[in-house]
Amino acid sequence: MSDTRILVIGACGQVGTELVEELAKRHGNERVIASDIRETANFDVEYVQLDVLDREATRKVMIDHNVTEVYQLAALLSATAEKNPEFGWKLNMDGLFSVLDLAKEGLIKKIFWPSSIAVFGPTTPRENTPQNTVIEPTTVYGISKFAGERWCEYYHNRWGVDVRSVRYPGLIGYKSLPGGGTTDYAVDIFHQALKTQTYECFLGPETSLPMMYMSDAVKATIDIMHAPAADIKIRSSYNLSAMSFNPAEIAREIQKHIPDFSISYEPDFRQAIADNWPASINDAEARSHWGWAHSYDLAKLVADMLENLKKQINVSA
Ligand code: SER
Repeated sequence: MSDTRILVIGACGQVGTELVEELAKRHGNERVIASDIRETANFDVEYVQLDVLDREATRKVMIDHNVTEVYQLAALLSATAEKNPEFGWKLNMDGLFSVLDLAKEGLIKKIFWPSSIAVFGPTTPRENTPQNTVIEPTTVYGISKFAGERWCEYYHNRWGVDVRSVRYPGLIGYKSLPGGGTTDYAVDIFHQALKTQTYECFLGPETSLPMMYMSDAVKATIDIMHAPAADIKIRSSYNLSAMSFNPAEIAREIQKHIPDFSISYEPDFRQAIADNWPASINDAEARSHWGWAHSYDLAKLVADMLENLKKQINVSA
């Protein structure tokens, strides 16, 4: 482990922010480098500005910093990619190839790249969606993630690239904000519940989706990267699950803490995206191959989110 040098690309995003913090805790600040397209950012570890689409700049960062492992998180999420399909496809695919090709050359040893429940589409069984099933995504984001999964497996089979991936569900955390996904409501709702005790939801009350607390997602990400290579039997991407809920259910759970909280519904274009995604995920393979286990259910997640966001509001008040 002593020569491990980790680069997180897309470090300023929802996952990156928390992942950098946890990786630094485990490996030491000097072994982690955060990078993103922004000129500056506030991390306890070294930060470098990097556009992952600039292959030469990406290669230079790897060489200059002796990078051995990369977490490639830069992407346009589902809702944003629908607004800019061409760039969504470009960033999500070329961003992946940029790091896959450096690993193929032997410049980096290991890659993490996230896929998503968005790979599934209307023809996929909605409940308890298995690892191997019909996959016909209908969004640019889903198409790019599915294509990316196939390429990860291809680079592994053909050139031995050690790339590992999970299909994230909707992710919820208090340390960072989501950036343009269909599941963002499940983070926004907490901020609004504390600020105004009301929330207008862009998905309907019955729209059940797979979700996960950020600390579990970060744990899964680090666990799959630390697992022995032989345990990673799926080199496309693993189903990953913790809980499923709909907006009405999370609202009721919030009301247990904030009785005056009320929710209203104004579905927009994101409803159609959510309607084509699974309601729940079967992640038996991740659990048996590399020991994945989640800690947070809905009740625990809501209690923890509210407690931590209240603390943040008190600090900034
Ligand atoms: N949270 C993501 C999105 O909504 C799903 O991967 O786009």
